[in-house]
Amino acid sequence: MTRKIEILDTTLRDGEQSPGASMNSAEKLIVARQLLRLGVDVIEAGFPPSSPGDFRAVQEIGQLVGDDCVVCAFSRAIEKDIDVAAEALKSARRPRIHTGIGVSQSHLRDKLNITEDECVEQASRAIRYARRFVDDVEFYAEDAGRANKEFLLRVVRAAVEAGATVINIPDTTGYCLPDEYGALVRAVATELEGTGAKLSVHAHDDLGLATALVLAGVRNGATQVECSINGLGERAGNAALEEVVMALSVHEEELGAHTGINTAELVRTSRLVSRITGMAVQANKAVVGANAFAHSAGIHQDGVLKSASTYQIINPSDVGAVGSEIVLSARSGHAALRHRLAELGYSFANEEFDDVYQRFIEMADQKKEVYDEDLESMLEERSRDVEAIYTLDALQIQCGDPLVPTAVATITDEDGVRHVVSSTGTGPVDASYKAIDKVVSVHGDLEEYVVKAITRGIDAIGEVVVRVKSADGMLFTGRGADNDVIVSSAKAYVNAINRMITTQRSREGR
Ligand code: KIV
Ligand code: ZN
Repeated sequence: MTRKIEILDTTLRDGEQSPGASMNSAEKLIVARQLLRLGVDVIEAGFPPSSPGDFRAVQEIGQLVGDDCVVCAFSRAIEKDIDVAAEALKSARRPRIHTGIGVSQSHLRDKLNITEDECVEQASRAIRYARRFVDDVEFYAEDAGRANKEFLLRVVRAAVEAGATVINIPDTTGYCLPDEYGALVRAVATELEGTGAKLSVHAHDDLGLATALVLAGVRNGATQVECSINGLGERAGNAALEEVVMALSVHEEELGAHTGINTAELVRTSRLVSRITGMAVQANKAVVGANAFAHSAGIHQDGVLKSASTYQIINPSDVGAVGSEIVLSARSGHAALRHRLAELGYSFANEEFDDVYQRFIEMADQKKEVYDEDLESMLEERSRDVEAIYTLDALQIQCGDPLVPTAVATITDEDGVRHVVSSTGTGPVDASYKAIDKVVSVHGDLEEYVVKAITRGIDAIGEVVVRVKSADGMLFTGRGADNDVIVSSAKAYVNAINRMITTQRSREGR
């Protein structure tokens, strides 16, 4: 029997720190629901002191997950952060506070300007303080990968004495080589023997080694791996959950370890996170990329037809890469829709379901066949509606050759006032964005615009993802989906503007 490695998913904390990948609390809840289906052991739900939105997300996710998994809130090793994290976790059944401090010379000297003694003291004080609120406190020794080993071991000893239940040894800058990191983790594992504390690994992908680093950690005694869906995270990102989990699955005997992840949910989770964050997954991405199981060369195709194992080490169905072919249509009744949604993990009270069914019928009228991806896209759109400050009610476009592209948009603001505005532009998208700019109260520069078909067929839903830069240089992702890509484009822009305003208000504490 191999030992179980716990998976801490940090998509909603470290992952969300990727520029432009920020999620509001409604979106975080959608992802958390899917993480539950995936079977992660710990959801790191956010950094509550950073904004009221993150506070709410941690609170709501704590309530959502109940006893099914641990919910973790991030904090610095300072009392006021810990107070806020503890407050956000108050109603969680299995709360964890993740607190810590930089331990490398670079962090002590250049970032914190403290001595080693002060660092040990601050870490111990923070852990003792966090233990007043929760029984489960994880301590991170930030930049452990570049720290002095003797000092790191001293901090680890102090952390356990102060009451830490999990010790996290991050290679914050993705600097280490796997065997070097493995040796460091081994030294910490030896230090922790007999204490009962768990040992966690966390690595960044600055040299493309994050997955190799955490696996070296597992070989050397780590009991928990921190990772994120699609490898999202600061800079080059974290170790990708799907890679770590499948490496542990393919090499279970050799590594003597397994996870409790429901691997058949990996592709679905990856797509969901990509849609919500607007961060595309590269086609050749391991495990979840569009080409991960595509065989192009004739020699490869011939081999795979004879036996899949010639060029495949993972069965696509093991990671959910083979889509379900259940197709609903406008003829599908309440029971069929309810049944399919339940299979996808969604359940709704009666009034809510009426609204969902109505939206389904509207979509099915336009699009004859409704696939799982259509349903998920519709539900995501619906849950985003909640935070709408401006709503695009209608859009009329006139364009062609030799017409001057012209857009007439009807937009309702949060006070219920309807605005009808028009503009010309260099093309239909430009004209509609200029029309929208006449109503909204903030200015955004369009930095990126991506359009793709998210569902199948000529009547596919076209999704547009935009990144809009605010005056203070922050990036906001907006998304819109419709059968008409110009309407998708306008919805995406309004969505980005709504996020910008919500974030600004949340920062100002409104
Ligand atoms: O990379 C890192 O060091 C982190 C911690 C602060 C846990 O994300
Ligand atoms: Zn990190």
